[in-house]
Amino acid sequence: MKQAKRLDNAPPYLFVEIEENINKYMAKGVDVINLGIGDPDIPTPDFIVQKMIEAVKESKYHQYPEYDGSMEFREAVARYYKRRFQVNIDPETEVVALLGSKEGIAHIFFALVNEGDFTLVPDPEYPVYELATALTGGVPYPMPLLKENNYFPDTSIIPREVIKRSKILFINYPNNPTGAVADLTQYQKIVDFGMEHDIVVCNDNAYSEFTYDGLKAPSILNAKGAKDIAVEFHSFSKSFNMTGWRLGFAVGNRDAISKLKKMKNNIDSGVFTAIQEAGIEALNNGDNFVEYMRKVYTRRRDIAMEELKKLGFQFEIPKGAFYLWIKVPKGYNSKSFTNLILEETGVVVAPGRGYGEWGEGYIRISLTIDDNRLKEAFDRIAKLNI
Ligand SMILES: Cc1ncc(COP(=O)(O)O)c(C=O)c1O
Repeated sequence: MKQAKRLDNAPPYLFVEIEENINKYMAKGVDVINLGIGDPDIPTPDFIVQKMIEAVKESKYHQYPEYDGSMEFREAVARYYKRRFQVNIDPETEVVALLGSKEGIAHIFFALVNEGDFTLVPDPEYPVYELATALTGGVPYPMPLLKENNYFPDTSIIPREVIKRSKILFINYPNNPTGAVADLTQYQKIVDFGMEHDIVVCNDNAYSEFTYDGLKAPSILNAKGAKDIAVEFHSFSKSFNMTGWRLGFAVGNRDAISKLKKMKNNIDSGVFTAIQEAGIEALNNGDNFVEYMRKVYTRRRDIAMEELKKLGFQFEIPKGAFYLWIKVPKGYNSKSFTNLILEETGVVVAPGRGYGEWGEGYIRISLTIDDNRLKEAFDRIAKLNI
């Protein structure tokens, strides 16, 4: 069967490939340690699960949900934004509930990008920005995230012809995979750039709650004038260990949000209201759990950094998110080193090249694994002859 041309533009999704590799090795009986995927290992906290159990029994939730998310959910998001970021959000026009943030991130490209338009995407990046562009027939223009720029894009080097034909710019802080965290000055620059060139600016703030050493991640909506041009995406997957539940939201510029709603209304029929009820509970009462998880990731980050130092690896000290971005040793590229580790030790890591051209020469490991397995992974890697 022939597939649509747009699918020809989309390479296999990185994590599907990783999952296939894991299954292959597990089938051979290998005790695989998976440091490849950022999927929280600690279950969703009980207070959220209990809320879901109550909500799922409510027959009123068994019918189609409201397309944009229930008003109660959108009001909870607005209250959360006020408390967490001191930003006022109008629940009526400036919020939409998502079936996980990945869905909304992909759909905003479909809402704003025509064939042949450019999109400005970070490199390295969470691959969905580029893949969604490819599916719309747009052209992703990579903005390198360089160490010397604190892993923040330099918009001054983007050619004028590209800027003129760009519809959307994506950034992601706290950053996957580099661990960089943006400050308000950086956000202001990007918002001003978007305003000047009429380019919708999106920040993927999926890791907003995971920052280290006393740092607190701001929202792009804290920047002056941001609501005129910016949208921010959030995920319950990372903040509240709810990856399987598929819940997120987008907030910000009402025009962009309304176009995203229009796109979604024609494709999906909203999030199961019982899941939204559980999400409200998470937003209202999840601060202690987030604080607990921040301590867990800080401890694991410190274990991993200690082990990496012992083994002589170069890496960035992550300021946020829950990954380590590690340089591969001389003589390897990201794929050959990833394969070596998997074949010789059964440890799965993510090859940096999967995050873009500028990710070549790196691997990413995830801290979503318990301390003992994390240590065991390093014990195995220590036995490698590199
Ligand atoms: C930067 C970033 N954004 C979005 C997502 C998707 O999260 P969700 O589970 O809400 O779709 C991920 C998941 O790994 C991510 O790393």
